[in-house]
Amino acid sequence: MTDHILVERQGAIQIIRMNRPDKKNALTRAMYATMSEALAEGDADPAVRVHVFLGVPGAFSAGNDLADFLVIATGGEGGNEVWDFLVALAKTEKPIVSGVDGIAVGIGTTLNLHCDLTFATPRTVFRTPFVDLGLVPEAGSSLLAPLILGRQAAFALLGLGEGLSAERAKAAGLIYEVVEESALETAVLAAAGAIAAKPPEALKIARDLMRAPRDELLARIKVESEHFFERLKSDEARAALTAFMTRKKAS
Ligand code: COA
Repeated sequence: MTDHILVERQGAIQIIRMNRPDKKNALTRAMYATMSEALAEGDADPAVRVHVFLGVPGAFSAGNDLADFLVIATGGEGGNEVWDFLVALAKTEKPIVSGVDGIAVGIGTTLNLHCDLTFATPRTVFRTPFVDLGLVPEAGSSLLAPLILGRQAAFALLGLGEGLSAERAKAAGLIYEVVEESALETAVLAAAGAIAAKPPEALKIARDLMRAPRDELLARIKVESEHFFERLKSDEARAALTAFMTRKKAS
């Protein structure tokens, strides 16, 4: 358990809030583990009908904690919690709604490919600098992003690491709606409430029919993860991760 993830129930809605504002919600191993646990518990509990992911003002998530990645890149342990979370996300049986404000990097972007509805604020930028870090796409994004965005927009996002504004993300089909910061959580909870009010069995079948085949998605997550861990130990990744962790910030 970690205080950096707050799990709360509001009626049939389970809210998973990333809450590490000083690090822009960079996700640690403990945070992934707590989120996996929450998804499993919410899925197993008939009182929960929908999962919601939220961040803090200005930061949905800055992606994986790069210090954790550097540990693996330099021969240390880690990584299982990340991949357990990605599998939990892909296997989640109940709808997922997310509310994104501001920074949405790496998993902060790819998590939304698994969501049924994503709301984002105008200042949000979605970005996945995997290749710049010497890494490869994760979370099944190499499969889901071309399906959702089309191959060229997916290449710009996942290959070139180009930022995608909320407006463009909506036009491309990555997100459902753009809403002002002050209205974000109300919009998310209203959508989650509408989902929770539907007949759950019919909604589950409808949702399953609309999603990419789960076996294919899980197989892709596995292949991506094999490449990802190989890449983490590469010179390219070590250099990029070290550069970030030792960068001097403008004062
Ligand atoms: N891992 C570890 N620490 C991170 C982090 C990450 N992914 N993202 C941000 N942080 C830390 C910063 O090191 C900084 O810590 P410090 O105050 O102790 O120095 C703090 O969070 C605030 O970040 P800062 O860079 O000052 O904020 P910013 O608003 O100027 O920039 C980002 C925000 C997200 C654009 C920038 O931090 C960034 O590029 N982070 C790396 C994102 C990334 O590559 N994620 C992995 C994708 S696979």
